[in-house]
Formats: sequence, structure tokens, C-alpha cells
Amino acid sequence: MDCGEPAHREFLSRVETIPLHGLGLSVDVHSPDLPSLRRSLLARQVPPAYFEIFRNTTRTLAVTRSEVGDARLTYHGEGLWMTQPGVTDSELFQQAVREAGEHLHALQSAWLNHECAAKVFAGYCYGTYLPPLYTRGSAEVVAENATAVQYQLDQQGRLLNGSRPLLLLEMPPLTYFVAGTLSIPTFFQVICDQSPCGLVLDVGHLWTVYRYTGAYRTISLPRFVETFLDAFPLNRVVEIHVAGLDIHESIRAHLSQRVPRADETALPAWTDAHAAPIPPVLFEMLDQILCHPRLANLRGLALEVDTKPAEMIVDEFAAFSRRYAAVFQKGDHNEKTVPMCESKAVLGSAASASSRGTMEEAYQRYVHVLLGKVEPRGPEWNEDPGYTHELDLYHSLYLPYEILHWSGEIADMFVESCRRLRERGVALEGFVAFWFRDPQPIAELYDFFLLKVDRFVAFVYEVAPDVGDLAAVEAEGLRQAYRLANEPIPTAQ
Ligand SMILES: [Fe+2]
Repeated sequence: MDCGEPAHREFLSRVETIPLHGLGLSVDVHSPDLPSLRRSLLARQVPPAYFEIFRNTTRTLAVTRSEVGDARLTYHGEGLWMTQPGVTDSELFQQAVREAGEHLHALQSAWLNHECAAKVFAGYCYGTYLPPLYTRGSAEVVAENATAVQYQLDQQGRLLNGSRPLLLLEMPPLTYFVAGTLSIPTFFQVICDQSPCGLVLDVGHLWTVYRYTGAYRTISLPRFVETFLDAFPLNRVVEIHVAGLDIHESIRAHLSQRVPRADETALPAWTDAHAAPIPPVLFEMLDQILCHPRLANLRGLALEVDTKPAEMIVDEFAAFSRRYAAVFQKGDHNEKTVPMCESKAVLGSAASASSRGTMEEAYQRYVHVLLGKVEPRGPEWNEDPGYTHELDLYHSLYLPYEILHWSGEIADMFVESCRRLRERGVALEGFVAFWFRDPQPIAELYDFFLLKVDRFVAFVYEVAPDVGDLAAVEAEGLRQAYRLANEPIPTAQ
């Protein structure tokens, strides 16, 4: 038997066990409150066929499982930074995979969706996802890590129905720039050639690729989508997401002050924004994607709506259900099943130790570029200035906003400490410089809020030692409130 495509054969043998999930919603349990959202959806007679649940505590996920009865649940993980070289060697990563396994069991999820992106790079932490370096070496690192995660999850046992959850990598959004020399479709093709993972295609993320690779300057959106899909491993796409896009609040004031140049007025500087309305253009793109003949293994199509007002979710999902009701009734979404080869030994072994070292250095340079310390030049950066000409928006506005305001407003979290710092003339902007001054070893599973709490106390001890104890007391209150907020209270049906 010809085993020329062992990774794809293994993917097919895994995906054929996953039933069609249909039209769903990708949500956070608390934001908005899931039980009341479900009641609103039922009242409008548009119950989703499945919910994809963002990472939370195992207990919260188990309570959610018990509350939703027979409805299918899937899992949107976080904290497995598979884009990073050498990451599987760390005990913390192993712990994160074990946690993901527990969460998959708690939900009885057929898949683990994870962004092909990271929030921790070379010892520096970020609040929102950063895409990988789009290079061949980087794709090989991802493939190796993804395969390791899949096999580790396999060892943690099967779901109650006997199947093994499948790892899906989601193509991440671009936020003002793109880093790398390899086209994004080819990057994912390299991963799929070497790993049995599935993929999630997020339509809004695809729009940001059109916007921030500068493709919009030379080709129409339908032509871009056509070209992208023809090169993308679409037969690996198991789920499609559609979510909102918006101008980020950190750059809104800046854009309104800036005199527009001709090439910047063609498309808005939208970025991924789950709370924002979904722009109609994304459904035009979705229609085009759904017609593609290589979309052969789709199992779910979901609006991603965490942090969005419940009324807007219900309205959007009702319209979405009407428009796409027939997608999973057209029949076969299966590629031909093929026997599985004995392939594990050859999968995910492409990234050698030396290429890992090269990638580690490349990611250190990546971090320095993101901080505006060095120019985006070198072997892993594209010479086309269109790829990075809005990078300044990221490091001068978006990134400081993330540290000071995102996932907890520092001035509201540490009210008394900030008042004392103001009296001393200490500006909070110094916290941003403090945050990125040195790489920091990570000791706990990733949680940006708790990280922010810890780092702000360290900052205060440095800039105003006599205020440090006050900051430490405020920090303890924040941690307790956070723990309480994340503990589930079962709700009556
Ligand atoms: Fe998504």
C-alpha cells in the first residue's frame, strides 16, 4: 500500500469518527452568561446545534456539561503555545496538555481547537495572540509540537463514545502586520504535510490577512479568497468561525487625528473583535468558502461571540441559521476514507535541534521588532514594506493598551496604589516599559489577569517601595475576587 501521505491518511482516520456538529456558537461561559444566553436562543427557537466553550476551570466546564443536556460541546483551548520552539520539553507545557485533556473530557469534546499563535514569546508575555513567524522552519516547529500534543492527548484516553479528540489549529488574525517569508497557505500546508492535525478557518482572520498583507491594494477580495483557498489545505478544515471585526479602541483616536493617505482609505484598519457586529462582507467570503470543492471534512460552522451582548448574539445567530440551514444537509462532507498507515514514527520529526535553535533566535528578534527596538529586517522578514508599514500601530498604541487596559484596567484594579503613585508623579506608562524590560520565566499556567496582578506589584515595589505593601494587599483582594468569579454556581434549567 502506498503510504505517500501518512499525515493526511492519519487525519482522515481520525476525522471520520467526528460526527457533523452543524451550526454552533463559540462562547465563553461567563461572558455573556451562558445559561441565560441559551434561554434567549430557545425563546427565539434558534438553539445552536453545538457550543464551543473557551478555556475555563475544569469544574466550570463540568457544570456546563451537566447543564446543557444532550447538546454537543466542543473545546476552545488556550495556553498551549505550539508555535514556540522546544516548548514540549517544559513541565509547564506538559501540565497545560494534561489540563487540556481534562477539559476535553469534562465537555466530552470531539476536538481541541487552539489558535496557531502564542501569547508568550521568548519569555515575554502578551495579552492577545501573536501570529507565528511565517517561515518554513517555524511551520516545522508547529508540526512537531502539534503532533506531540495529539499523541499525548491520545494517551490520556478516549471519550465516552470511544473516540479520540482531534487537535485543530486555527489560523490566527493579523493585527496590523505580518511576520515571515512564507505565504500563509503554504505555511499551513507544510504543517499538514507533517502532522495529522485538523484546521479551523476563521473568516474574519482571513479578512485581516487580505488587509495586512497589503493584498487589498492589488486584487479584489473575491480573487484574493479564491487564490488563498486554492493554496490552503482546505481538506483539513474541520470547523469554520465567523466573528466580528472593528477598529481597536487603542487606535481609534489616533486614526481620527491622522490625515488620511490615499492607500490607507481603501479598507478600514479592522482587527479581530468578538464583541463587535459581524460585517456582511464576511458572509460573502463564507459563501465563497463553502462552495469550494476541497472543503471536504467540515464538521462545524460557528459564530464566535464571546464578550458580545446577548441580544446581538441571538439576532446574529437567527439570521445565520436562516442563511446557512442547508449547509450540513447537502450530504457528504467526507473525503474518501483510507486505511491508516503505521505513520507515527515519521510524523512531526522535521524540526531538528539546530533548526529549533535558529527559531529560538528568530523569535527573540521577533520580540525586539514588536517592541520597536529593531527594524523588521533579516532572514525571517519579508522585504515588502507593505507587510510591516503599520507595525508602529502595534507597538506604540495597541501593545501599551494591552498592558494598561486590556483584561483589567490597572487604574481600576489598584485604585489606592495608583492614587499614591500619582501623588509621587509616577506615570503608569512606566509599567509598560517595566513589563517588557526583561524576559520573565513563567511559573504558572498562562493567565494574563493574574500575571498582570503579580507584575504590577513588582513594578510598584521598584518605583515606590513604600507603596509596595499596599499594592500587595490590593493584589490579594483581586486574586480572591478572580477565583470567586471563576467558580461556577449551577443554574436551574
Ligand atoms: Fe476564531
